[in-house]
Amino acid sequence: MPRVSKMHKAKNEKNNEFYTMFSDIEREMNAYLDYNPDVFKDKTILLPCDDPEWSNFTKYFAQNFERFGLKKLISTSYAADSKPNDIPYQLTLFEVNSPKYDKKKTRSHGKIFILERDINKDKKININDLEWNYLKGDGDFRSLEIKKLRDEADIIITNPPFSLFKEFFAWIMESKKQFAFIINKASISNKDVFPFFMNQLVWSGKEDWKGGMWFETFSESDDYDKTIDGKKYKNVAAIWITNIDHGRRHKPIPLMTMEENIRYSKYSEIRGKEYQKYDNYDAIEVPYTSAIPRDYTGLMGVPITFLEKFCPEQFEIIGATQRGCHKNVPELKTYEEYKEINYKTGKPTGSSGSKTNGNGNLPGIKEKNNYFLNEKTGEIVHSTFSRIFIKAKEQP
Ligand SMILES: C[S@@+](CC[C@H](N)C(=O)[O-])C[C@H]1O[C@@H](n2cnc3c(N)ncnc32)[C@H](O)[C@@H]1O
Repeated sequence: MPRVSKMHKAKNEKNNEFYTMFSDIEREMNAYLDYNPDVFKDKTILLPCDDPEWSNFTKYFAQNFERFGLKKLISTSYAADSKPNDIPYQLTLFEVNSPKYDKKKTRSHGKIFILERDINKDKKININDLEWNYLKGDGDFRSLEIKKLRDEADIIITNPPFSLFKEFFAWIMESKKQFAFIINKASISNKDVFPFFMNQLVWSGKEDWKGGMWFETFSESDDYDKTIDGKKYKNVAAIWITNIDHGRRHKPIPLMTMEENIRYSKYSEIRGKEYQKYDNYDAIEVPYTSAIPRDYTGLMGVPITFLEKFCPEQFEIIGATQRGCHKNVPELKTYEEYKEINYKTGKPTGSSGSKTNGNGNLPGIKEKNNYFLNEKTGEIVHSTFSRIFIKAKEQP
C-alpha cells in the first residue's frame, strides 16, 4: 500500500527495520508444508513485530489463508513513536482513508490486523477481508496485550528486532508454541540460546546459512548494500530458526570415514594429518562440518555452523565450549598459570591464560593468532573458535 507522508525522523539508534522478502518467507514455509501439508490447518497464526500494511508476512499468510486452512491470522505492529531509529514515519492511505483513522493514536499506538471471516461477502477469505484496529498500547511484544495474543496463537512467525533477540527468544520459548523466526546467526552461540538447540527444542530452518539474507530497509541512513528499482536492500547474516519439522532436518550429512578424510580431504589441516585432540577436553577437533569422520565414535568439537546441517538421527549434541554450556563435557584443564603471548612480537600481552578457559584449546602455536604459554613447563596452546560437542548416534 502506498505511503503518503514522511513526518518524523527519530533518533538514530540500532536499525531494527529490516523487512523480509516474500520469496524468503515462501521458501521457508514451503519446507514445512512439504513435510506436513496440514502444518497450518485450523491454526491461529500470530505475526508480532510486523507492519501489516506493508509486511510480506501478512501478505503471504492472508493470500494463502484458505489454501492452508487457517483458523485465524493476527498481525500486530509497533507504534512509530516507540521505534528508536531513523525510520521515517509512514502513514498509509489504507489507514488515513479508513473511518477508524485517529490522528491522536496513529503514532503512539500499535495496530492489530485480524483475518478470520469473509467480511466483503465475496465467498472468499483473503487479504481483502483483513480487519484492523489500534491496539490499546504500542504493540511491544513484551506487553500484556501482545502476550495475550501470543497465548491465543498456535504458531508465531516473524522477523523480530535483532537488538532485542534475547528477550524475544525468551518470550517465545516461555510460550511453548510452535514458531519460526529470523535471527542473527551470531546469536545462536549465546549461552541463553544454545542450550535450546542442544536439547532440540529449537533447530535451524530449512534455508541455507551461506550468503546471509537480503532485507528491504526503509532507513534514511546509508546503511544498505544495494538498490533495486529505488528500493534499498541490506544483507544480514540472518537465518531462520524454528521448532516446526521439515525434511532437510532428517537428511544425514554425507561424510567420509576418518581414513578417507586423512587421505582425500580438501582441507590442508586434515589431509595427511591426524585429527587433533584438545588439550582441555576429551574430544577431537573437527574444524569443518564436512570433515566430520563418519566412523568416529568419541566426542568431536565442530563449528557452530554444524547446526545448519544437524540431523538428529545422525548425531547427538552433547555440549559446547561456551561458558555455561559445557557441563556435559567437563574441562580437563584450566590455564591460570599460562600467559597470553602476542604472536607477532613473541611478548606477553599482559593477559593471563584464564582468558582461554572454556575454549577448545589445541597444543602448539597457530600462525596469525595469539597463543598461551606456560613458562614453567614450556607448554603452548592456542584456542579454537566456539565449538559444539557432538557424538555419532549408534546406528541400529
Ligand atoms: C526486523 S523488523 C521486521 C519487520 C517485519 N516482521 C518484516 O520482516 O517484514 C522488526 C520490527 O519489530 C519492530 N519492533 C522493534 N521493537 C519492538 C518491540 N519491542 N515490540 C514489537 N515490535 C518491535 C520494529 O519497529 C520493526 O518493525
